[in-house]
Amino acid sequence: GFRVVLARTKREFDIPAGRTIMEVLLEAGVRVAHSCREGVCGTCETRVIEGVPDHKDNVLSARERASNKLVMICCSGAKTERLVLDL
Ligand code: FES
Repeated sequence: GFRVVLARTKREFDIPAGRTIMEVLLEAGVRVAHSCREGVCGTCETRVIEGVPDHKDNVLSARERASNKLVMICCSGAKTERLVLDL
């Protein structure tokens, strides 16, 4: 698991292994844009402020992945203990 910090709303969540960031946020009542929930539509694209995502989507290019600036929160995880998102 890892910790997600929402920079704008100043909320923090533990994301347990096997859960997605999106699942945890939606359960907590955080409104996040979503559609496919499978990493193919790009609706859930979120800006990364700090941390390194573990990309599992089929949307981002190799260059975008390497930039660590964007993450699809419906399917991707984190390679760092903390991921700070622009939410
Ligand atoms: Fe479609 Fe995340 S909801 S890529």
